Amino acid sequence: MSETTEHSQTESSTPKLILPDIPGFKNIETYLKHGGYGDRLKKVFSMTPVAVTDEVKKSNLRGRGGAAFPTGLKWSFMPKDNARKRYLLINGDESEPGSFKDRQIFEFNPHQIIEGMLIASYAMQVDHAYLYIRGEYAYWYRLMEKAVADAYAKGFIGEKMKEMFPASGDGVSYSVDITLHKGAGAYIVGEESALMNSLEGGRGYPRVKPPFPANVGLWGQPTTINNVETIANVPIIMEMGGEAFSKIGEPKHPGTLLLGLSGHVNRPGVYELPSGTLLTDVIYKYGGGVPGNKKIKMVIPGGSSMPPLRGDSLEGVKMDAESLKLVGSSIGTGGIMVMDEDTDIIHVLTRIAKFYWHESCGQCTPCREGTGWLLKVLRRIDQGQGAPSDIDLLHDVAQNIEGRTICALGEAAAWPVKFTVQRFREEFEKKVSTNNVPSSPNRVHSLRVGGLEPVQVHVPIVVRV
Ligand SMILES: Cc1cc2nc3c(=O)[nH]c(=O)nc-3n(C[C@H](O)[C@H](O)[C@H](O)COP(=O)(O)O)c2cc1C
Ligand code: SF4
Repeated sequence: MSETTEHSQTESSTPKLILPDIPGFKNIETYLKHGGYGDRLKKVFSMTPVAVTDEVKKSNLRGRGGAAFPTGLKWSFMPKDNARKRYLLINGDESEPGSFKDRQIFEFNPHQIIEGMLIASYAMQVDHAYLYIRGEYAYWYRLMEKAVADAYAKGFIGEKMKEMFPASGDGVSYSVDITLHKGAGAYIVGEESALMNSLEGGRGYPRVKPPFPANVGLWGQPTTINNVETIANVPIIMEMGGEAFSKIGEPKHPGTLLLGLSGHVNRPGVYELPSGTLLTDVIYKYGGGVPGNKKIKMVIPGGSSMPPLRGDSLEGVKMDAESLKLVGSSIGTGGIMVMDEDTDIIHVLTRIAKFYWHESCGQCTPCREGTGWLLKVLRRIDQGQGAPSDIDLLHDVAQNIEGRTICALGEAAAWPVKFTVQRFREEFEKKVSTNNVPSSPNRVHSLRVGGLEPVQVHVPIVVRV
């Protein structure tokens, strides 16, 4: 696999905090040469743990795992007493369709993940830190294994940290161990409580909340769960200071975002851009526009579970949590899926519904049964056998899943259907009135539904920052 990065369409002022344009940055020597670990960690370990958390609070960093929850605030939920063991769990399950950004950090900047884990562990006085990587990422797992081994050998992780960073005065030197864990191929274990069950060796079932992980997490102990991209931002915050970080991009959701661009664009890939970048700039300026200069029919801005936007409503839409909320969608994982004017929206939605039906863990009835209903009705419409009443039926089923489940996979399954019906109703009406199949020449190259021949899936592997 090539390690080359392409940067041709990047403005020089665009900050590259997570995927810097430095050849060989994944190697520990190069990382050290550019300020990683050494003095930066010394500075962090000379601060109090509370001061480190305060710096992250000041930065306004928000989680990149989907919910955009404030990271410093989350860290401050950990109990203040040290009576129980405490854990940090970094979520590298990355299974949301349209999302492929964490793997670029594994590949191009693994040490920033490790350093972020060390800083977070210190801030929360964690006893043991885990990095959970999805099983399908075997290549990236091996890269992380090497990075962790190299950091251990240099004394940046584990017992040797005490010699590397001796405490000043009467202070106690801090050390923490990091363990990697490989998943077994389930989307649902990306949900934080299922992630904990999976790491503990159990079935990947989400837990009922409350209690929340900060009180009852791994093995019943206080635990903080953060996404890979979130944690990779932490060394940068400690380097530049929380206030400076808070001024990058949109103040309510600052920093850069790794935006995964896929679908009908000329240059798919991962783009590191300041939050608040115009969605149209991501698609046209960085992504090179739509093949054949076709119009856009639909864009899903944050991974397949997020509400889709109409192609004629993209003007002025910015890529950050608050701006997307204003237009009835969500930043999610920043996975932008573009579909041109020829796309068969119903076919796409059927494929998405199949994914969530397949990945439902089955614990709660609205999700287990509802996802099956959604798929059944959608397939009926997709195959030219839908009735006009099916459109409202779809919407009703989606409404009855939402808010009635143990975890947010319920919403992940319901939202795409509910909002596609609301925003593209004319497509459904046309389809059920003509009941022809296939309805459109372009059923999206990378999507397939049972019964159709498998086609080559286009996986963008080039990093463009
Ligand atoms: C069904 C489902 C799947 C999820 N998958 C992931 C995932 O693959 N990676 C991730 O970081 N967060 C995922 N999340 C969100 C996590 O539950 C959790 O909010 C996140 O890891 C917290 O990290 P952050 O605060 O840094 O964003 C998922 C949530 C749900 C409901
Ligand atoms: S919402 Fe779905 S995935 Fe989540 S616990 Fe219920 S059945 Fe399982």
